Amino acid sequence: MSKSVLGCVALIGLVNSVQAQGRSTSEAVKVKWLEDAPKYNGGVTFGLPWALGQFSANASTFSASSGNGDVQLQSWINAYWPDGSIKWTGHALGASESASDEYTITATGSGTGNATRLRKRAINDTNVIQVTQTADNIRVNTGKITAEFPKSGDSILSSIKTSSGKTVGTNGRLVLRSQSGVGDDDSGDAAAVDYYNFISKVSNVTVSKETSIRTLVTVQGIHRLEEKLSGTHKDWLPFTVRFYLYANSEAIRIVHTIIYDGESKNDFISGLGVKFDVPLEGEEFYDRHVRIAGVDGGILHEAVQGLSGLRRDPGKNVTDAQYEGKKLPDISTWPANVRTRTQWIPTWSDYRLTQLSPDGFNIQKRTKAGQSWLKIPGGTRAGGLAYLGGATVGGLAVGLRDFWKKYPTSLDISNAATDTGSITLWLYSPSAEPLDVRPYHDGLGEDTYAKQLDALEITYEDWEGGYDTPYGVARTNELYIYAFDSTPTAEKLSQLTNNTNEPPALVADSAYIAETKALGTYWATPESTVGSAKAEALESQLDFLVKFYEGQVEQRRWYGFWDHGDIMHTYDRVRHQWSYDVGGYAWDNSELSPDLFFWNFFLRTGRADVFRLAEAQARHGGEVDSYHLGNFTGLGTRHGVQHWSDSAKQARISTPIYRKAFFYLSGGDERTGDLIHAVLEAEKAFVLVDARRKVRDPSIIYTPDPEALFLNFGTDWGSIAAAYLIEWERRGPRWEECRDKLINTFKTFPKLKNGFVTGEALYNSLDGTWAPPPNDPDNAGTVTVSHLSSVFGVVETIDELITHYPSVPQPFVDAWLDYCYYYGAPKAEQKARYGKDFGNLNLKQGHSRLTAYAARARQNATLAARAWNEFYTSTDGLSPNASWQTVRIDGDKSLTVVDEADWISTNAAALYGLSAIENLAIIGAADKINLNVTGSA
Ligand SMILES: *[C@@H]1O[C@H](CO)[C@@H](O)[C@H](O)[C@H]1NC(C)=O
Ligand SMILES: *[C@@H]1O[C@H](CO)[C@@H](O)[C@H](O)[C@H]1NC(C)=O
Ligand SMILES: *[C@@H]1O[C@H](CO)[C@@H](O)[C@H](O)[C@H]1NC(C)=O
Ligand SMILES: *[C@@H]1O[C@H](CO)[C@@H](O)[C@H](O)[C@H]1NC(C)=O
Ligand SMILES: *[C@@H]1O[C@H](CO)[C@@H](O)[C@H](O)[C@H]1NC(C)=O
Ligand SMILES: *[C@@H]1O[C@H](CO)[C@@H](O)[C@H](O)[C@H]1NC(C)=O
Repeated sequence: MSKSVLGCVALIGLVNSVQAQGRSTSEAVKVKWLEDAPKYNGGVTFGLPWALGQFSANASTFSASSGNGDVQLQSWINAYWPDGSIKWTGHALGASESASDEYTITATGSGTGNATRLRKRAINDTNVIQVTQTADNIRVNTGKITAEFPKSGDSILSSIKTSSGKTVGTNGRLVLRSQSGVGDDDSGDAAAVDYYNFISKVSNVTVSKETSIRTLVTVQGIHRLEEKLSGTHKDWLPFTVRFYLYANSEAIRIVHTIIYDGESKNDFISGLGVKFDVPLEGEEFYDRHVRIAGVDGGILHEAVQGLSGLRRDPGKNVTDAQYEGKKLPDISTWPANVRTRTQWIPTWSDYRLTQLSPDGFNIQKRTKAGQSWLKIPGGTRAGGLAYLGGATVGGLAVGLRDFWKKYPTSLDISNAATDTGSITLWLYSPSAEPLDVRPYHDGLGEDTYAKQLDALEITYEDWEGGYDTPYGVARTNELYIYAFDSTPTAEKLSQLTNNTNEPPALVADSAYIAETKALGTYWATPESTVGSAKAEALESQLDFLVKFYEGQVEQRRWYGFWDHGDIMHTYDRVRHQWSYDVGGYAWDNSELSPDLFFWNFFLRTGRADVFRLAEAQARHGGEVDSYHLGNFTGLGTRHGVQHWSDSAKQARISTPIYRKAFFYLSGGDERTGDLIHAVLEAEKAFVLVDARRKVRDPSIIYTPDPEALFLNFGTDWGSIAAAYLIEWERRGPRWEECRDKLINTFKTFPKLKNGFVTGEALYNSLDGTWAPPPNDPDNAGTVTVSHLSSVFGVVETIDELITHYPSVPQPFVDAWLDYCYYYGAPKAEQKARYGKDFGNLNLKQGHSRLTAYAARARQNATLAARAWNEFYTSTDGLSPNASWQTVRIDGDKSLTVVDEADWISTNAAALYGLSAIENLAIIGAADKINLNVTGSA
């Protein structure tokens, strides 16, 4: 058996002292908890930005301290500036008895790349994770627990042992149930339905390079048929399960991802879960405990064999100990009238909590399979955590984040009265109706493009046969496992329920993040415009919009397995209801960038509620609204009734700019990193799916060709450009190729006679160069300006490109600034410049930020005034003079009491929010124009 200890050497070690030779710099950055300092700290990862040229990657070190002195820190680089200096780092802190209110991360080094000699201190080996690998498994010892991950087989985590040597969890595996049909089909023939049970089949297990304070084990595989109830079924539903383990922690954080690769008409998921066995051998039934999290920190206290409430009382010493989860006094000390009769007291083997709606859960228990269930009084929203174990043998708690928000979910405890009990956390409850991902309508006879376009006129749905498919969409869930030597207190489990649902996050101060420009120059903190009445009014409106959407999520129950994290697009004021059932008006799928509005709002304010709103969106859009397998990989789906129902598959929806802040602030969340990589695949999808196939002028002959893709600079290129930039920053496997493609675009795009006003042109996805569109081979200049081109993150992406790479050639910047200037310019000016005006454009409010961008770059105060004028007087956005209030709808007017703002559409809200934030940052408030708030292009 080969045994190697990984993880003793961090790429970037800890600094003890600095032998400053030559020029060295040092910067101390404070990070604070997003919410209050947590009562439980099981280890945390976070990210920090650094300004261009400040810290060279090969000559800088990082250390951490809190009020109580130095803290062990693992650090790594997540992004680089083009000169090799550090742009984003990731950091991990191990678990601690108590969390400090804040930590100081100190970077020390040189921005020049000339290695200042640093004396590195070895990380104290007694406090770090030990990783050992054999041919068959990976073993990770955090100091509190040792977990074993087999490299093949059915199990994803074969054992969890506490430091005192108790094995408290075994045989962790994924479980999946499915069926080939549902009873309500036309045939109604339940007998014709096949039922299957699947289990995980591991194909690939890897461990992170750095492991000292945080170790990441990634297990990949697929679900294989375990039990053939009837019929046969191929392996399906590929998964990636990531286990995060922290030094000195008894918790394991799990990020569980599946991709739906079934056939919607024949593959109905009827249960999806994660299951662990809990060894209970040797523990008396009355010393075995079941704990289930209820509402607002509530905990159900049960013993497998309960001794309270009986006709004969064993005494307070016994019943209190059992309630508290402590080992009972020896049975010989109990009163004889109890002691001699324990065989008549039932044991409860199975517990089941089902959360089939966001409003209520039921719990039941039974003595064993084959006997009736007994109802336990339930509640509204369960915390999603269950514990099974014993006072002496220890046990395991398992929790699912956002348990009730992702309904239908459930928790099973089984076989608690046998030698091996188990806990199953159901991410999709087998007690719910099977997951139905079939199209919601039959095509309505729309068998030609002409009919499809006509249908769009009435329902706004852009439908086409075969495109309404869930094949390739994904879902990610976050779970925690906690291991114990003995049954923990209810208070501890309550804390862990909090930890599971609101994993503590550390973030730097907004002003610091802004100063580094690592997330562009298009947002600034409210302090930058303090003292302006106009800015103050906008601040309160932005706050209103954010709170409105937070409230709507709750009142309209925008929750569910697929839905949590999305919001709706358009409001139906007649029904007092969002248009959840109208073609193109239902789920928003990031239309016009509400994600960016919320992230920018968080960045500038640091508000925890906004982070959580945006985080749920980041976890939804890139997964459910985007494709990860098949022809559409890398693309997303336009807004619609189902997240995948619309036939417009475009990169404007999957663009990673919507997840970039989350990716870096989280310290490089690996799943989000995968999603960003997947967008690079859009290059191939552009060949398979022509986004404008239905609407293009038929006289334009176009066949998709990787060397000549007819793309829109905003809705297509802008999205892959965002992915290229992040790949370049990350120095991912394709970073040089991505950098070169961007640089080629910088060189060739401005050669299009009309620059960005060309709108659509031919893109060579092999090298990043552009050529004139097929209808203008001689580059005489075409004018195609769409209101959609720059409202899907292209403004922010181009700003980040220019900030990242100060050598962007001036002609590219000028071409962009011209577009920014002319979009809102008078038609006469457009015509004078391009020979033709742009027609009647809308979304002028949303485009005021382009005008502002040009104003700052040109240092033109008149233009800045024009930007604010566009913002305040646009007729198709939100009006500053709208009521900015909600109206309560109650009584028999609607199903439930709701607060309505029928003057809001999500398109308008997203653009109002984004433009207000960006204009304030770029040109200052309307009553205090300031062209030097943030950096200039
Ligand atoms: C860094 O190293 C280069 C090459 O060795 C040298 O020319 C330059 O002066 C050094 N810069 C500093 C600040 O030490
Ligand atoms: C390492 O940590 C242990 C436990 O905290 C402590 O007792 C020991 O002194 C430390 N060793 C060094 C070299 O700092
Ligand atoms: C296993 O994962 C690693 C890292 O993601 C990857 O490079 C490798 O190709 C994978 N191997 C298999 C057999 O899937
Ligand atoms: C209950 O426990 C206390 C403290 O351990 C002990 O003094 C007392 O004798 C016990 N009472 C009974 C009835 O066993
Ligand atoms: C859980 O979180 C809530 C909300 O932050 C807090 O009020 C409560 O005290 C926490 N409970 C525990 C046990 O930490
Ligand atoms: C994928 O695209 C190819 C080429 O356009 C096409 O032949 C094939 O049918 C598509 N596959 C699916 C599943 O749509």
